[in-house]
Amino acid sequence: MHHHTRIGIIGAGPAGLTLALLLQRSGIPCVILENRSRDYVENRVRAGLLEQNTVDLLRDLGAADRLNVEGLEHHGVILSFNGQRIRVPFDELTGGRGITIYGQQEVVKDLIATALYRGIDILFEADATLIEGIESEQPTIHFTQNGLVHTLSCDFVAGCDGFHGLSRKTMPPDSYREFRHEYPFSWLGILANVAPSSDELIYAYHERGFALHSLRSPSVSRLYIQVDNEDKIEDWSDERIWEELSIRLGAEGWALERGPIFEKSITPMRSFMIDNMQYGRLFLAGDAAHIVPPTGGKGLNLAVADIRWLAEALIHFFETGQTDLLEQYSSNCLRRIWRAQDFSNFMTYLFHKQAEHGSFENLLQKAKFDYIGISKAQATTIAENYVGLKDV
Ligand code: APR
Ligand code: PHB
Repeated sequence: MHHHTRIGIIGAGPAGLTLALLLQRSGIPCVILENRSRDYVENRVRAGLLEQNTVDLLRDLGAADRLNVEGLEHHGVILSFNGQRIRVPFDELTGGRGITIYGQQEVVKDLIATALYRGIDILFEADATLIEGIESEQPTIHFTQNGLVHTLSCDFVAGCDGFHGLSRKTMPPDSYREFRHEYPFSWLGILANVAPSSDELIYAYHERGFALHSLRSPSVSRLYIQVDNEDKIEDWSDERIWEELSIRLGAEGWALERGPIFEKSITPMRSFMIDNMQYGRLFLAGDAAHIVPPTGGKGLNLAVADIRWLAEALIHFFETGQTDLLEQYSSNCLRRIWRAQDFSNFMTYLFHKQAEHGSFENLLQKAKFDYIGISKAQATTIAENYVGLKDV
């Protein structure tokens, strides 16, 4: 069967969904193709740190009713080095900006409900298999759904299909350069039914490796530890995970509460970049174009920041016929992405174990940590990057 729309969006993650809502608000028709089921995308466990800009956009889109009630606002973060703690009060250092903890899958649930309520077409279990004609004015996406082959012709294709998606691979290989950086460690993440032991997030270097204390609700904790890339989830019993977390996050007069773990998984850490996010009528956004290590909590926020630029450029094109913002799309996005890439890399190397404890490299790491406590300038640098720079 053949379909037609103005913007063909591949992927119903945070990028594709926010784009659809912004376009629909301006009267621009779009269709989202998502190869997974609704249930799958709504329950895929990911990170959960929202920058102020992201919260503002979700509110502006009218998709924040539950976020306003259940989201947990944070005004500071705790940084720890082998048990020594420094609190960075980011509201004080950034003129009142903050972050909100709210699981990405909750964001996705809210966006899907809002999009469907507003009549946006989301085709679930619709697998995009080929994008044709991106150099023409009418590209076509081929997809399969329920065993049937379909085509969707459109004015523009938004490739919001994540790191493993089809869109980036559709760009001619010589139209962009790739940069990859693999880190020599992974994160083991858990969700546990236990009240958080800290109101604020704790990022900890420890001589045994990194640990992060985060949370999802007053009764659910989200925690991570650095593990080897070769480690298997079976190597890590619940007991061993709690033991390691307690040691690495430990500080005098503080104890980590334990509870039943109901989700655990290991994720490799990587940085991935391309230096051009557009070719012809195909525009990439979110994980399709870039991956940052999770230590800065930037993944979801970068996806949403790309979409702000893309929606503005497309709306401007349909209103005026001008292509200037479309042409600037890639460079506008890349400024923020490189900034976040650098910050995520900085946080990763500051808090992970890479060198022998007590070695020259490790003592430099400690000097960097100590500097946060000594210098308001350094604490402000961390704070403003962590909450997200407003206008980059
Ligand atoms: N056809 C249709 N859908 C596809 C295809 C395809 N060929 N390939 C991938 N998809 C879908 C995936 O199933 C997924 O739901 O595209 C969607 C991409 O969504 P995300 O991976 O959530 O990516 P994005 O919207 O860019 O959001 C980035 O997700 O991975 C996290 O840390 C990352 O928080 C960041 C956020
Ligand atoms: C999370 O809560 O999942 C989380 C928080 C901060 C990070 C990464 C993940 O840097």
